[in-house]
Amino acid sequence: MEKYIVLLCLLHSCYGAIYNLNDTEYNRMPAKYKGDLYDKCHWDEDAVYCFAELNLVSDTPSPLLTMIQEYSAHNTTHFNYTKLVRGVCLTQTCKHLYNGTAASINDTEIGIAIEACVNEEMFKDYGLKIKVIRQFCNQPPKDKPLDTLDYAMAIVCLVILLANIAGTIYEPFGGHRKDFLSRFLVCFSIRNNWRKLVAPVARGQDPRMRRLKSIHGIRTMSITLVIMAHSILACVAFIDNPDYFEKLYKSNMLKVIFNGMSIMQTFLVMSGFLLVYNSLLHAEKHKITLMSFPKYIILRWLRLTPPYAVVLGLTITWMRYLTDGPLWQEVIGNEVNDCKKYWWTNLLYINNYFDESQCMQHTWYIATDTQLYCVGALVFVLCSTPRSRKIVLPLLLVAGLIIPGVITYMLNLDGTLIVSPEAIHSLFLNEPTFNYTYRRGHTNLAGYTIGLSFGYLTYHWQKKGVDMSRFRRYRFGVPLLVLIGTGVVYSGSIFFEDVPRHSMYIRVAFASLQKPLFGFIIGLGLVTFIFKIDDIVRHIVEWQGWTVPSRISYSAYLQQMIVGFVLVSFLTALPFFLIVEAPLGNVTKLFLMGSPREKDGDNKENVKVDHSKKALSDSEIVAIEKIVPLKTLREILSDERTYENSRV
Ligand SMILES: *[C@@H]1O[C@H](CO)[C@@H](O)[C@H](O)[C@H]1NC(C)=O
Ligand SMILES: *[C@@H]1O[C@H](CO)[C@@H](O)[C@H](O)[C@H]1NC(C)=O
Ligand SMILES: *[C@@H]1O[C@H](CO)[C@@H](O)[C@H](O)[C@H]1NC(C)=O
Ligand SMILES: *[C@@H]1O[C@H](CO)[C@@H](O)[C@H](O)[C@H]1NC(C)=O
Ligand SMILES: *[C@@H]1O[C@H](CO)[C@@H](O)[C@H](O)[C@H]1NC(C)=O
Ligand SMILES: *[C@@H]1O[C@H](CO)[C@@H](O)[C@H](O)[C@H]1NC(C)=O
Repeated sequence: MEKYIVLLCLLHSCYGAIYNLNDTEYNRMPAKYKGDLYDKCHWDEDAVYCFAELNLVSDTPSPLLTMIQEYSAHNTTHFNYTKLVRGVCLTQTCKHLYNGTAASINDTEIGIAIEACVNEEMFKDYGLKIKVIRQFCNQPPKDKPLDTLDYAMAIVCLVILLANIAGTIYEPFGGHRKDFLSRFLVCFSIRNNWRKLVAPVARGQDPRMRRLKSIHGIRTMSITLVIMAHSILACVAFIDNPDYFEKLYKSNMLKVIFNGMSIMQTFLVMSGFLLVYNSLLHAEKHKITLMSFPKYIILRWLRLTPPYAVVLGLTITWMRYLTDGPLWQEVIGNEVNDCKKYWWTNLLYINNYFDESQCMQHTWYIATDTQLYCVGALVFVLCSTPRSRKIVLPLLLVAGLIIPGVITYMLNLDGTLIVSPEAIHSLFLNEPTFNYTYRRGHTNLAGYTIGLSFGYLTYHWQKKGVDMSRFRRYRFGVPLLVLIGTGVVYSGSIFFEDVPRHSMYIRVAFASLQKPLFGFIIGLGLVTFIFKIDDIVRHIVEWQGWTVPSRISYSAYLQQMIVGFVLVSFLTALPFFLIVEAPLGNVTKLFLMGSPREKDGDNKENVKVDHSKKALSDSEIVAIEKIVPLKTLREILSDERTYENSRV
């Protein structure tokens, strides 16, 4: 029976009458969020502004409270209206109840004052009472002195900026020179990095690399959806019209976005795919040994970490000057404190296993991807024969399917991350599903393994010259694939419907299968684009315009929480990419192999010598090599294709 209902629900979002209130009834409830004006409060010297989470109670039986409780019980789509949030300017609104000053804040006294203050209104207007669950008070913004870390970070930023300016000015004159200082400066040239950014895909390389154009399109579209979803999350911390937000849950478009959390699979699949595919191309000319494994890891770490460290540093130091507001301590303050304490977990890419840290929560993905990258690299290095892969990859896939199911069963979790209003409000802090299945590395193994497998298969089919054109007659299946993919994402909304919790079987099955299924569709789509099975969808995702946002997507993702919205994220990502990410990447390359620059303008030559190794600069490198025996390292780095590897 339940299966049947699920099927029905996939066809059209149904599931009976949602418990609803008409506007008159809705307005009988006390507002979920309400606050005194913060700026006005701080006109006073000694202002005390507090936010408090309150519990609505009643001493006597109250039909109103019963109605509120019933409405709130539908907690997948409704806010909890028995849990109110109030911002109180104690030194103005409740002068008669509170005597203290900003200098002498006493939590007990403040709690009592807030309770008395809010209760005056609550009892008069609604006949109800509140109890304070917790409160947090803001001091005026002036109490945030600069410390040593702030100065250190400012110096780092200044140095980067100066290097940018110097590099940009120097490049037209000395860009061709080969000495170390010239090369170092050119790393920071904004003009140079801009040219790289807008360069066509995989210019002057193996034609097989150019077939990967579609990755940029897929990546850009996915990251846009992800940032959109996150910006919606950022909006509900404190809103005037929660009922409007609740109504959004009925919109099908929004359901896809809320379920968009499974879209993160796209990146995992592409990451796995690129790891294997690029490494196989690389292995045509270089020997892969067990020693390649640490190199893979070190290179990835060096590539991702410098821009990450800059954002992390800014979060710890200057972020607190970015804005000021009543929710600051709650939303940003905790993050800053955790970052001060747990920054090392972020830089080691293990922060998705540290539940006590809220430092840059959204970077769980970068950690997960890195962990799976290690697994993928290990598989690649160890399983050099097709036979071993045929054993290892299915084993990994099965493990990847079973693990989320078992964890869901053991911990009684949800089948997917339920993006309910209250969960968003608390930034998923109280959601075990978020902690234990959504953001862990081992629970995302299946998607990555699918990516690895498609990487091997694609390479193999190309190598053997398998005739894929015979599949062209099924090309109409590709738009259909897009539809099915959207359907799979959308199917998560069965958990958003206003119904009793689903049975364990459905939740376990969902937790195991949905994400891998979506990942499989993405992998399949990628293969059809690479082999040019269809033209309509392919032309869309291979559009040249996707490449620029795709290349700066790591920058965009890193800083999305600071800024929020898609366009703004991308627009600020652009200078961040040009000023920080690209130059630091160049410098890393320079130190490791001495040639950060691609040869501009000679791409025609390179096309001709496709399969021969790109001319690898000069004697200087040989000198470096003698000091550091990093030959393979250097060659991996010199290859833009490895650089492309598994970027977000
Ligand atoms: C809202 O519902 C209440 C109770 O069901 C009813 O008395 C009232 O007339 C309704 N108001 C409107 C505007 O429909
Ligand atoms: C709403 O919040 C109150 C207070 O925190 C809590 O006791 C209650 O269980 C919550 N209701 C639902 C349906 O989550
Ligand atoms: C919704 O309420 C149910 C029952 O009170 C509770 O088990 C569940 O955790 C709540 N979900 C959210 C997202 O608060
Ligand atoms: C405020 O201070 C006055 C005088 O110091 C005192 O009489 C009064 O009880 C205090 N009120 C509160 C609410 O603490
Ligand atoms: C806060 O106020 C309460 C009651 O007035 C008092 O008992 C307590 O000692 C005070 N705490 C501090 C830290 O001053
Ligand atoms: C989940 O992780 C957050 C930190 O990211 C932590 O504060 C919270 O307590 C954890 N929740 C559960 C249910 O473990």
